[in-house]
Amino acid sequence: MNPSKELIIVLDFGGQYKQLIARRVREANIYCEVKSYQTPVEELLALNPKGIIFTGGPSVVYEDDAPMIDKKLLASNIPILGICYGAQLMIHLLGGKIEAAEKREYGKKTLLLTQSHPLFKEVKPASLCWMSHTYQASNLPKNFTQLAKTDHCPVAAFSNDIQHIYGVQFHPEVEHTEEGKQILRNFLYEICKCKGDWKMDDFAQTTIQELKEKIGDKKVLCALSGGVDSSVAAMLIHQAVGHQLTCIFVDNGLLRKDEGDQVEKLFLEQFDLQLIRVNAQDLFLDKLKGITDPEQKRKIIGETFIRVFEAEAQKIGKVDFLVQGTIYPDIIESGTQNAAVIKSHHNVGGLPEHVDFDEIIEPLKDLFKDEVRALGKAIGLPDYLVQRQPFPGPGLAIRVIGDIVKEKLDLLREADFIYQEELKNAGLEFKVWQYFAVLTNLKTVGVMGDERTYFYTIALRGVSSSDGMTADWYRIPHEVLAHISNRIVNEVPQVNRVVYDITSKPPATIEWE
Ligand code: XMP
Repeated sequence: MNPSKELIIVLDFGGQYKQLIARRVREANIYCEVKSYQTPVEELLALNPKGIIFTGGPSVVYEDDAPMIDKKLLASNIPILGICYGAQLMIHLLGGKIEAAEKREYGKKTLLLTQSHPLFKEVKPASLCWMSHTYQASNLPKNFTQLAKTDHCPVAAFSNDIQHIYGVQFHPEVEHTEEGKQILRNFLYEICKCKGDWKMDDFAQTTIQELKEKIGDKKVLCALSGGVDSSVAAMLIHQAVGHQLTCIFVDNGLLRKDEGDQVEKLFLEQFDLQLIRVNAQDLFLDKLKGITDPEQKRKIIGETFIRVFEAEAQKIGKVDFLVQGTIYPDIIESGTQNAAVIKSHHNVGGLPEHVDFDEIIEPLKDLFKDEVRALGKAIGLPDYLVQRQPFPGPGLAIRVIGDIVKEKLDLLREADFIYQEELKNAGLEFKVWQYFAVLTNLKTVGVMGDERTYFYTIALRGVSSSDGMTADWYRIPHEVLAHISNRIVNEVPQVNRVVYDITSKPPATIEWE
């Protein structure tokens, strides 16, 4: 895929962290591809990788259906780093012994180095590592050296410098392994001798080239929401095939102030994207009339979106590809089967049943959110768009508590706009992870110019978080809050009270509905 560049292959044995390993390699400025362990050796070698990383996996090497590889790969002289199952597999194939550990190791353990080795260059002699295994090496093959241990795992790391084979029982790719990034860097730079000249621009160029080849002269359709993921996906395709891509942007009337116009201006006027804006504001409001239950709101919005999208797509006729801005964490999240439904998330891009297309293209499916942002920047999207904070698919409908009418949405848009503007003025725009106003359904008594008022209460929410799964309320300075509150009650009609939400998630959620 990237013949002129250094390549590292992540060979997947079913490990849950394969994309995280790939991401670590990209972070180290080296191009990386994830391949199945079933890929024929000749095919892997033909890619001329600088190194290969074997992932972990749920199997045990002795099981009948345990994933195996052709031993030729181990004799190829290409440096290989095995992680967990990947390490055990090499030991097993080369004549060592893997046995059930006396004690299953799970969680943070102290990694003690027993030998100095380039794999552990600049790594502390004792550091925390993340373990998750039941089996481990009890006997190493000839020419293998133990490099590290933990209390219960005698071979936590090993090397065979003759065959360029290395292994770790712990997971260097996860955050909990203190020296993990350094160990992986050492493998890439000290052992594989990579130069590290890969950049996101290269990824953009290769992806665009691949999309060009795949799409040829066929037609592509994309649902554009103006959010980071769908915008980056659409721009990639646009740069690959121009007007063969048609984007449908459904304005549901639940967007922030001026947002619909901004999306249209940027993509249609500035980037000359083939964009159809569907003004479906009235339809959405009509469907939401009298609905107060948050889950019902979400379902109605999700369904209405699909119907509007379908109707518009049918006007275009048959398309060959449908683009989705799915990113890697979406794939992990939708794979979780046991989680209770707290909120049914609606993301633009749920699959329409009545659109005639042959195949889905997901150009971002291997990337993490911050990588998508970097990619967006590399292909020329403006900062305000790629740095955009999360905005839920159901939009302001879940920030107007209770029933939704246009007047309430308009009030909220004004209050939210003031909040956004003042956080920007205070230099907090990118410090607070997510912030927005909520129109509570609560009216309270106030006094304005000697007159009694009975108006709405606006709640302000501002949180710090890394992934939205947990969050804490952000300590916005009081004077900034005072100024925002003052502006809102003075500038937004029908509002006479402003409160700041000081609950973390859990027990609250970030959005109010
Ligand atoms: P909650 O409210 O569940 O939100 O704590 C966590 C994060 O997810 C966003 N969110 C959504 N995103 N569709 C989305 O794409 C949705 O339906 C949705 N609901 C919540 C929320 O803004 C926060 O960042």
